[in-house]
Amino acid sequence: MADASLNLNPANPLPLAAGDRPDAAPAPEKAEPQATIRIDEKHPLAIRWMHWVNFPVLFTMVWSGLLIYWNDSDNAYNYPHRVYRIGLGRFTLLRLFPNWFYNLFHVPYHVTQGLGYHSFFMWVFIVNGLAWVAYTAFSGEWRFVIPLKSSLRDAIQVTLVDLRLRKGLPPQTKYNGGQRIAYTSCALMGVMMVLTGFAIWKPTQLHLLTTLCGGYEMARWLHFWTTMSFMGFFLIHVYQVIAAGWSNFRSMVSGEDIQGVDAVSLDAERKSWR
Ligand code: HEM
Repeated sequence: MADASLNLNPANPLPLAAGDRPDAAPAPEKAEPQATIRIDEKHPLAIRWMHWVNFPVLFTMVWSGLLIYWNDSDNAYNYPHRVYRIGLGRFTLLRLFPNWFYNLFHVPYHVTQGLGYHSFFMWVFIVNGLAWVAYTAFSGEWRFVIPLKSSLRDAIQVTLVDLRLRKGLPPQTKYNGGQRIAYTSCALMGVMMVLTGFAIWKPTQLHLLTTLCGGYEMARWLHFWTTMSFMGFFLIHVYQVIAAGWSNFRSMVSGEDIQGVDAVSLDAERKSWR
């Protein structure tokens, strides 16, 4: 394209562009493009570390717990791995665990190995859990996690939206009502696992705790079903993470999340606590 500043022949001037004519009104300024998204610091580094440490530790605890579970003295070798059941009254829907499960995973007769792993990794689980409680308490992040008065109502609304029975999500900050309830329950389940675990590990030395749990058998029952509830949480959690998409998952790795500019700013929220 011809450029007027390079025209060296004054007898034959090139036509000036409209905005360059001395008498022309100044060209309207081009509107700056407006940002529609921004990057938020969603998960602090400490939370990410503790979260990901939990995953293999919990896996090892559940696995080693399974190795221990078959060794039920009450039933000595008579269905030793079918202590608990799902049923009502005399009706039994399912015994835990069915033979095919044990055969599939080759778990029987590794009880001492299970005990070794269980009693080592429980300390990692406890230290990590205590570190999470301390960090969330001191940093103020607990405010994002504990349920609010509106959380149950919000959780129902979120579930209805997930099931496509309703439109319009309730307002939230870092977590919605359902997540607040789920993550707080997860922490309480962790406490319950540890307390019932100690009650069956040292029933003589910690007899007060064992009694508080309703006795040895009850403590065992509670330990087992809390673990099952934890597994239930885990399956729903992973399903929700997949449903929420890649950006949400990535935020638990990098810490940052892509948000619409209108979304609540987590940084502003954090500053408001100080
Ligand atoms: C494959 C395994 C897992 C994946 C992919 C995963 C992924 C995630 C993601 C992406 C978040 C952030 C959710 C959000 O920002 O909306 C999160 C939070 C959380 N996850 Fe997991 N998770 C896994 C395993 C677990 C396990 C085993 C536990 C049980 C202890 C757990 C407990 C939690 C808790 C308590 C939070 C909230 C953390 C906080 O804000 O302090 N996750 N998870």
